[in-house]
Amino acid sequence: MKKNNPIGLFDSGIGGTSIWTEINKLLPLENSIYLADSKNAPYGLKDKEEIIALSKKNTEYLLNKNCKIIVVACNTATTNAIKELRATYDVPFIGIEPAIKPAANNSKTHTIGILATKGTLNSDLFHKAASLFEDVKIVEQIGHGLVQLIENGQINTPEMFDLLKSYLKPMIEQDIDFLVLGCSHYPYLIPQIKKILPSKIKIIDSGEAVAKQTKKILIQNRLLNTSNTEISTIFYTNSDSKVLNDILNNQYEVIEENF
Ligand code: DGL
Repeated sequence: MKKNNPIGLFDSGIGGTSIWTEINKLLPLENSIYLADSKNAPYGLKDKEEIIALSKKNTEYLLNKNCKIIVVACNTATTNAIKELRATYDVPFIGIEPAIKPAANNSKTHTIGILATKGTLNSDLFHKAASLFEDVKIVEQIGHGLVQLIENGQINTPEMFDLLKSYLKPMIEQDIDFLVLGCSHYPYLIPQIKKILPSKIKIIDSGEAVAKQTKKILIQNRLLNTSNTEISTIFYTNSDSKVLNDILNNQYEVIEENF
């Protein structure tokens, strides 16, 4: 495997671009390929077997493009499929999981909130992680409908604001002091979430941690790209490219392909 082979990322849609952004910030010399499997979004309502099958399909697509490492830029795919992926393919995988640890360790009210998909909140991996913090109350909320609205380009709409309010109000009433965003689509909702939450409640997502972990694993595997004159970044979508282009401010190459 060569150092200038691309980093491959996939998500059920456009949300994982929030992870790509963090990786690109930390590792600007890396080539990358991003797959938005928007045709199959949301993953959060699918069963484990289907999520594994879709994750394998995406991984194989990225491996065919010679990716040196795969970033599963989706909490739902990570919590349901990463074990299977690691057992099947001989390439390093980086996953993303809800950042409950920093929230639980720093909570003063001993109550934290988590907003994530049904698939993530119901996964064994999440249950195992949550069970490590017995003295902290974790208020779980499934973000029904949020991914679909984001995929439809409806981030800044009254409908989104009302949905978020209905999910966050009960958490505020239960005195959370941290809100964990457990879905890579949700960082795009932070401006709206901030209008709803009192400023004393901190919002945590996992993007930066995933970028740091990606760097660490690339170094460990001697795959970090240290010199690059022409950086290639390609985004593939199997759906209409407009929403993906919008979220990327039309700054990158986006290709529609049926994968
Ligand atoms: N971005 C995915 C995640 O992090 C979205 C899940 C979905 O498609 O439902 O969980």
